[in-house]
Amino acid sequence: MANVIVVGAQWGDEGKAKVVDLLASHADACVRYQGGHNAGHTVEWQGRRFIFHLVPTGILRPEVRCFIGSGVVLDPEALFTELAGLEAMGVSSRDRIRVSYRAHLILPYHRLLERASERRRGAARIGTTGRGIGPAYEDKVGRRGIVAADLLDGDALRRKITANVARVRRLVEAEDLTAEGEAALDVEVLVASMREHGEKLAPMLADVSLELDALARAGRGLLFEGAQGTMLDVDHGTYPHVTSSSCVAAGALTSLGIGPRRVDAVIGVSKAYTTRVGEGPFPSELEAEPAAHLRRLGGEYGATTGRPRRCGWLDLCALRYAARVNGLDALALTKLDILDSLPEIPVCVGYRLGDRVIDEFPPAARDWYAARPVYEVLPAWSRPVAGARTAESLAPEVHGFVRRVEELVGAPVALICTGSDRDDIVVPRGSILRDLYPNLD
Ligand code: IMP
Repeated sequence: MANVIVVGAQWGDEGKAKVVDLLASHADACVRYQGGHNAGHTVEWQGRRFIFHLVPTGILRPEVRCFIGSGVVLDPEALFTELAGLEAMGVSSRDRIRVSYRAHLILPYHRLLERASERRRGAARIGTTGRGIGPAYEDKVGRRGIVAADLLDGDALRRKITANVARVRRLVEAEDLTAEGEAALDVEVLVASMREHGEKLAPMLADVSLELDALARAGRGLLFEGAQGTMLDVDHGTYPHVTSSSCVAAGALTSLGIGPRRVDAVIGVSKAYTTRVGEGPFPSELEAEPAAHLRRLGGEYGATTGRPRRCGWLDLCALRYAARVNGLDALALTKLDILDSLPEIPVCVGYRLGDRVIDEFPPAARDWYAARPVYEVLPAWSRPVAGARTAESLAPEVHGFVRRVEELVGAPVALICTGSDRDDIVVPRGSILRDLYPNLD
């Protein structure tokens, strides 16, 4: 069985969940490796909409075991709220999820720190999801974080919470210490609630690296579910306008404690256009009115925060960059149907920087803002993509679009999503997915 990483190739929200949901039906385990409940992975199935924040999307497949690895930052309250919501929708999940002992926890004071930090930045704010993700990763790297295993050790838990609360009090300002702020800094309240969460979490805790290794040795198929996207990666994204984890494929290895030889393929997911939430550079971003049109067509509002997403054309230079830094074996292209009604389909093939034209995503922040997109305009589809399920039913212009993407990105397109339903999918002939998953059809 194949071990496959599914990674976002843009700024997140590429439609990874739909790809993961499909591949999970051929895998034994589905694993989240980074990020936290800043993610919003959406699957539509039989008229119902499931939005996953922390729980791996594979949970919708009853036979799949799910793991939350060491590189994830876990808000226990968010996890239990999500599990209760899933159970209410008839998806039993608690006994199929294992959480790493080493996963770092998000406590209420992380949200307080984040609010203070964003306010202090003013116009230079990141536009975060407000979930406490960044401050939890800061505590991890600062070697003062609280990990899931600490929930089982009352003394360690109290000691760490006490020290961290004292530190946070020094950092936040008087205006943060509203009643809500004070509750987030009350040691007794925090210890009591974390112990309560610990009791519920204890049966789910596991040595995730060891369990994944055992599954891989037994020939089971592992599916690694990336969150956010390459351009939000803390090392390779548009820093500092990034999230605080390693979203790229290599992040799966360090975050889970598995070796690179375990991975058979890396699939990058990209929309047929581009969106971004939060602040930061976006060279192929559209002006307000055309962006609003694309947003309306694509329903581009954040699945976690509800914020309107910024919209623009597909940036093939950024996508080729993503193919390089992830070592993509193939691309999955999503939301092609959203372009159905457009009179033409521009794609960004280079950037004008002063009197130069370049075709690589620049390495320096100054150029991300200065870069003006150079577009190639591809023809409109002569019949709609929506709902197509075979390559033969796609218009010739769609095949032309796919070929151009493949040429400029340097990776084959292994999957095309043609609508919001779970089954609105085309797997082109020769797709690597057929080699990885012989029963795909
Ligand atoms: P944080 O991850 O909440 O710290 O936010 C950092 C940046 O990443 C902000 O621009 C967020 O909008 C963006 N971001 C975080 N998670 C996601 C996601 O799942 N999809 C898209 N953008 C995200």
